[in-house]
Parts: sequence; structure tokens; C-alpha cells
Amino acid sequence: MIASGVTRTRRAFAGLALLAGGALGSTAAFANPVPWQLNMPQGVSDISKRVYDLHMLGLYVCAGIGIVVFAVMFVAMFRFRKSRGAVAQTWAHNTRLEVVWTIIPILLLIMLAWPATRLLIDMNDVGESDLTVKVTGFQWRWRYDYVEYQKQDPGVHFISSLDTESNRVRQLGSGLDPNAVKDGDYSSYLLNVDNPLVVPVGVKIRFLITADDVIHSWWVPTLGWKQDAIPGFINDNWTKINTPGLYRGQCAELCGRDHAFMPIVVKAVPQAEFEQWLATHKSAAAATAAVGAAPDGQG
Ligand code: CUA
Repeated sequence: MIASGVTRTRRAFAGLALLAGGALGSTAAFANPVPWQLNMPQGVSDISKRVYDLHMLGLYVCAGIGIVVFAVMFVAMFRFRKSRGAVAQTWAHNTRLEVVWTIIPILLLIMLAWPATRLLIDMNDVGESDLTVKVTGFQWRWRYDYVEYQKQDPGVHFISSLDTESNRVRQLGSGLDPNAVKDGDYSSYLLNVDNPLVVPVGVKIRFLITADDVIHSWWVPTLGWKQDAIPGFINDNWTKINTPGLYRGQCAELCGRDHAFMPIVVKAVPQAEFEQWLATHKSAAAATAAVGAAPDGQG
């Protein structure tokens, strides 16, 4: 009985999570955040899925504690109220009960801390990556340097800025409709860039994250983490994306006037396609380097 009750509760929560994921009812609901989404996305990497599962475990425990505590409280309030002739007991301590309500929280904390610690350790393990991308935050755009791919320097770097369409609409008094800004059928107002970060799926990607002026934060919810970009420091993090797609994010650290206007777009493509893209950009970069006059962001 208890087991089926638990299953039912789990199912109810899973249903809520699905609803929260969006009424789309497809896996797309878990890829990018959608309007009115309540729960976090499951994401597109093993790590992001584990982050989601850990979050759900914490949620179930919190909900369970809430239900038990409020149930006991309301039973006490209604059943043992003065108007029903309740008389207070005179004892004040119950050693056995105190031991129980100390041990249960300790067990719950261990149950949460164990997977959380394992996940943190795995999230910090940036070793044995095949691709290294350096991310630099600027007021108010991102620079991406492909530092290493399969032990070689691809020599590809570019600046990624807010797309021109969003930029036009956002101008004061533009009179343009933000809802009309689309990337395909996605409402991409302030969520699209001119040059997305192109990465391969199924490859461990290490990110080196820093900034050149003030603190920014590189955040793509679908990857399951955000990482501060701090001038003078290099933070690292990693991902291995399972599903090709466009994954959007934003700067997540208040970095000045245009904080809201430095979105992130990660374009995950099959490895062969990525290598083709890299080769194209490499030769383009080499050509502009030969001319010697190309500013950053054109490479
Ligand atoms: Cu960069 Cu906020």
C-alpha cells in the first residue's frame, strides 16, 4: 500500500513536472526554457539529467517533510483544541521521540548529500576533454576561442553579439513588436545571436571561462550549470551534449547597462558537421590573417 502510494505521488509529481516543462509534450520542452515553465529543464547532457534528478529528489524530500509536518500540526490544532476539552499533558520531554526526530533528518541529509557530492565531483572533472573553448565575457557580448580540438589549435575565434533583429526592436521608441522576432518558430527576442557557439555532440567539451571587464556569468540552462566569468580568473566547466540542437542561455550576472542583451546560443551539431564548420572557419581566419586588416569577430 505504501509503495503504491509512493508511486502515485511520484507519478503526480512527474505529471506536474511534465506540465511545467511546457504543454508541447515533446522532448523540445526539455531543451530550451519555455514561457510559464515551472520546473528546470532536464537538459541535453548526462550531467544536466543528474542535476535534474537531484533537484527532483530534493523536491520530493521537501514535499514529504512539508506534508508530514503540516499534517501533524493540523491534527494537533483541530483535535486537541481547548473547545473540545483538551487538557495539556504535564510531561515535557520524550527521549525516544527526540532521538527519532534527530536521526530521521540526519538520514535525509546523508541521502541528499551523497548524490550531491558525487555529482559535484563529476562536474568538476574537466579532464580528458577533446575540445577546449575559451569563453570571455565583455560588456556586452561573448568571445569564443577554440583553443584546442583533438590536441591541435584550430585557431578559430569570434565574437558573439545580440542579433540585429532583437537589437533593432529593443531600441527606445522603436515601436516594433518583440513578439514578432522569431528564429524559425521560436520567439527569439533577446535570445538570439549573430554567431552561435558551434560545438559537436558526443564530445567532451571543456570550457575556460573568464571576463575582460566586469563579472559576467555564462549560463545555458540546458547544460545544467552556470559559471561566473571573472576578470583575472579562469573558471572551468565541461559538458558532453547528447542531442543536436540550438540551446539558448543568457548572461547571469548583473554586468551593467546591457546585461539583458548578451544572450548565448550553443549550436550542437554532429561531429562531422562540426569538423566541416571548423575547417571553413579556419581557412576564413587564415585568409583574413593574411590580409592583416580584419578586426575581431569577422574570423
Ligand atoms: Cu554580462 Cu550580465
